[in-house]
Amino acid sequence: MSISTSPHSHLLHPNHNHFLSNHRIHTTTTTISLPSSRTFRPIKCASTSVQLQDPLPVQVQAQAQAQERVFNFAAGPATLPENVIRRAQSELYLWRESGMGVMEMSHRSKDFMSIMEAAEENLCSLLEIPPGYSVLFLQGGASTQFAALPLNLCAPDDPADYIVTGSWGDTAFKEAQKYCRASAIWSGKSEKYTKIPSFGSLDQNPAAKYLHICANETIHGVEYKNYPIPTNRSGLLVADMSSNFCSKPVDVSQFGVIYAGAQKNVGPSGVTIVIVRDDLVGRAQGFTPVMLDYKIHAENMSLYNTPPCYGIYMCGLVFQDLLEQGGLAEVEKKNVKKAEILYDAIDGSKGYYKCPVEKSVRSLMNVPFTLEKSELEGEFIKEAAKENMVQLKGHRSVGGIRASIYNAMPLAGVQKLVAFMKDFQARHA
Ligand SMILES: Cc1ncc(COP(=O)(O)O)c(C=O)c1O
Repeated sequence: MSISTSPHSHLLHPNHNHFLSNHRIHTTTTTISLPSSRTFRPIKCASTSVQLQDPLPVQVQAQAQAQERVFNFAAGPATLPENVIRRAQSELYLWRESGMGVMEMSHRSKDFMSIMEAAEENLCSLLEIPPGYSVLFLQGGASTQFAALPLNLCAPDDPADYIVTGSWGDTAFKEAQKYCRASAIWSGKSEKYTKIPSFGSLDQNPAAKYLHICANETIHGVEYKNYPIPTNRSGLLVADMSSNFCSKPVDVSQFGVIYAGAQKNVGPSGVTIVIVRDDLVGRAQGFTPVMLDYKIHAENMSLYNTPPCYGIYMCGLVFQDLLEQGGLAEVEKKNVKKAEILYDAIDGSKGYYKCPVEKSVRSLMNVPFTLEKSELEGEFIKEAAKENMVQLKGHRSVGGIRASIYNAMPLAGVQKLVAFMKDFQARHA
């Protein structure tokens, strides 16, 4: 491996790396360059051959099964439905009659094609996607779509409108500025991203190629309950639905493009789902990389290159599970109930806990809150973890607590959190 040294190199060394320290390493030292925007402490990289010291002991498997699963309140990657994980576990080694596991299948094999088709069909049923839309299973996360959108929908001089209701909307807007004339027509930054604007007050540009929203701001916990009507000439509304995808019914026909990373509600990280209206496909700017061109992926049914096969399989299992639960209307009812009991606990705490988000737009998925005694937030997180409720720390940019209660978080998890909050308040009043 020949990797160059730079001031920002990540130099891995056995003594500085917990993973590698468990292994015998035959070393030649190389360095890996990292993006210059971050400063990393250089760590030596001993790269040539890493030999596992011991084979993975059989008892590790038994231990993992004996250990209780926690309630995982992470914002994503996030908790997955237990029955989906168990089904995947049962098929890991051997998928049906194929003689192999899904991870080992050619993406062009009949077996994998059937997995992908079923995933797509189930998603179409779940969201009642009307004819005239393509579903793409891509890679690169929603972050890649921040660039792909303007590249596919605009010429460099075209304007596009962005409503910025939180950090993700802001990131999408800033990325779009590189590829078109994007404007933030409303920003909630000065009010710490706790609101969604009244749609009538929006100053939309009639020449804008599209109006972009982030349907649910994962960090700030602000969620659209209905959607603005784009008044631009193309009548195009585009939404990042990463953190509320398939959490409730959506009228897809209101949107030109919906995109979402899978890792919150519908699968593991590595899969990005794009639902795009067919007339918007085939208009990409000339220099658009093939991997960002919707036409390439639509024409090749997401198989232009190797797709994230195992992730798509997992998404397919989640879609099937959501259908078996009765579809998105039923899923929404469960999500409303979970959110209600958590927000009620916050609002009923006499100010001990506070959610800054305006009530009418509070997210069903990500519930941020603070403690009146902010110095106790660390203790809250520590004590909750001891009770098997993990990943409750708010995003590093806003602090506080954040409970992400996606589809797969059982009601019991939220009930346990609420009971813990009451107990914590009583003990630390
Ligand atoms: C709403 C939203 N948009 C975009 C992203 C970025 O997604 P990714 O990390 O998959 O690129 C996230 C990630 O958490 C998100 O929550």
